[in-house]
Amino acid sequence: MMKAVLIVCGLVLAGAALAQQPALRGQALLEDNCATCHAVGKTGSSPLATAAPFRTLSRSFDLDKFQIELQRGLLTGHPDMPEFKFSDDDARAAAAYLRSIQE
Ligand code: HEC
Repeated sequence: MMKAVLIVCGLVLAGAALAQQPALRGQALLEDNCATCHAVGKTGSSPLATAAPFRTLSRSFDLDKFQIELQRGLLTGHPDMPEFKFSDDDARAAAAYLRSIQE
């Protein structure tokens, strides 16, 4: 009986850890690709003043649409930028991270 309870607890914890992973991967992706201009984390201001901190994106952006845009190729708002295009998995991870930090 005790053993069964422990196994169930273990599965719940493993599930929670897996659910965390996309957001962590998304954070790493955005830090690699976007942090030169945008504030990626929960605090701090953007290195480039005109680039919105990511934690405020949901004020002007529907993050569900944003995920689709990342998959298609993000062009808007980046005059001097190469086009960003994320794989479906990466876009989902990035969106999961962005959702987790919105103010
Ligand atoms: C070289 C600098 C630079 C990099 C790198 C960069 N951005 Fe931007 N981004 C900007 C600037 C500047 C703006 C604002 C442009 C404007 O308002 O005309 C912007 C705007 C945006 C907006 C629109 C925000 C809004 O509220 O309208 C989104 C979304 C965005 N960036 C996402 C990203 C993502 C995701 C990455 C990384 C994959 C990224 N950016 C990388 C400079 C950059």
